[in-house]
Amino acid sequence: MNPLNHVAIIMDGNGRWGLKYRNSRNAGHKAGLDTVETIIKTTIENKIKFLTLFAFSTENWKRPKKEVNYLFNLLENFLVNKIEDLHKQNIKLKVLGSKKFSPKLNKLLNNSEKKTFKNNKLQINLALNYGSKSELISAFKRLKKNKSIISEKNLEKNLQTQNIPDPDLLIRTGNTKRLSNFLLWQLAYSEIFFEKKLWPAFNKKDYKRIIREFRNIKRNFGKI
Ligand code: IPE
Ligand code: IPE
Ligand code: MG
Repeated sequence: MNPLNHVAIIMDGNGRWGLKYRNSRNAGHKAGLDTVETIIKTTIENKIKFLTLFAFSTENWKRPKKEVNYLFNLLENFLVNKIEDLHKQNIKLKVLGSKKFSPKLNKLLNNSEKKTFKNNKLQINLALNYGSKSELISAFKRLKKNKSIISEKNLEKNLQTQNIPDPDLLIRTGNTKRLSNFLLWQLAYSEIFFEKKLWPAFNKKDYKRIIREFRNIKRNFGKI
């Protein structure tokens, strides 16, 4: 049985779900938050130590302002209402991506990271304004500036995921088979599950089925 330390998820399909069932994309984003809570709970139940959630990509700024604002409001409210609870559950929150949001949201994110820094039950990495290509470019620039040798180890030390093991498992919901600029380096050997269901419809049973399937895959890493 494969050990499972790190699950990464591209939470896709909120907009389509919202349009279909509530006639509003934003309602889909709101419903998607319930799935986030279910998945966090199930991740803890399965003793998985790292959960990385792709919540907003560097490319998502191209969406209408109204939708972008709604998403960040949702996140703000989530943090205000839930950070104490996450902290009590011994969960550590880390943001991947550059924090270029409103001063209020930047502060909330920084405070949430500081508050939960020492927690060690589960680390949630929230990928927000995250893009893998720009992460890699920044890492290479730092190596160049410090005149460091270009090696896998040195590069990894300069990624935002330093000290985080690579994902064992990537799940993308929403019936789309692409990576959308997510963790291009770190996913090199991850097992990938593309799920038909839209994120708000994805549930504990679906997640547990994937975990079960993952546990039984023969992971070769080049060997036979
Ligand atoms: C994913 O759902 C959430 C974000 C990108 C913020 P989408 O909003 O991309 O939903 P679809 O793919 O349009 O249905
Ligand atoms: C990927 O979903 C980003 C997040 C889930 C946050 P998108 O819906 O933005 O991806 P594309 O644009 O369809 O590739
Ligand atoms: Mg999408």
